[in-house]
Amino acid sequence: MVKISASLLSADFSKLGKEIRSIDKYVDEFHLDIMDGHFVPNISFGPDIVKVARENTELPLDVHLMIEDPMKYIDRFVDAGADMITFHYETANFFRCRDYIKSKNTKVGVAYNPNSPIYILDEDIDRVLIMSVYPGFGGQKFINKTLKKISETKKYIKKRNYNIEIAVDGGIKTGTAYNVVKRGADVVVAGSAIFKIGDVKKNASELRKDIDRWCNKKKK
Ligand code: DX5
Ligand code: ZN
Repeated sequence: MVKISASLLSADFSKLGKEIRSIDKYVDEFHLDIMDGHFVPNISFGPDIVKVARENTELPLDVHLMIEDPMKYIDRFVDAGADMITFHYETANFFRCRDYIKSKNTKVGVAYNPNSPIYILDEDIDRVLIMSVYPGFGGQKFINKTLKKISETKKYIKKRNYNIEIAVDGGIKTGTAYNVVKRGADVVVAGSAIFKIGDVKKNASELRKDIDRWCNKKKK
């Protein structure tokens, strides 16, 4: 089953707990974007917000670290309640970071920017996060050239029989969700399509319908 990961970056922080609880049954996990103003040109939030999320849901929390020197902060996000830590390939020593996260009994995700080739995929990671926008802001337009990267990554994983999920992050809404699951995405991350306008539950259901449109077609 394809998972929906709700990115809290676009949620209303004045009622964060309520936002999380109201959508908890309509999505599969939450995605928390940590931005440091160095690796990306924006600052978001830190472990305290991860803690708030932890207190308001039992769904898995994937912490997406868009920060320089992720090693330095892994402990704090694990202690705040992260189930998965996703670091950027561009920022870290891949092996050291992977092994450290694993040593904390936490799942490992590795993120790649749209212009970063996917160099290292080994059996010992749980997820590859393919960025379909340049990280830093919610509400950007999906970059179409990443579709090819999703298909290629899917092929690579399938061929080796690896147990690695493909997540796609950025510009996901009705239409782009269909396109990415068609190429092999197992997880779609969506922020503004869920939280920015209208009713969050309805938005999440619309996204689910778009995903199912492909899944049902595939079954036929
Ligand atoms: C972008 C973040 C995304 C962002 C997605 O830097 O990593 O997770 O929240 O937002 P939308 O869905 O609005 O593109
Ligand atoms: Zn993200």
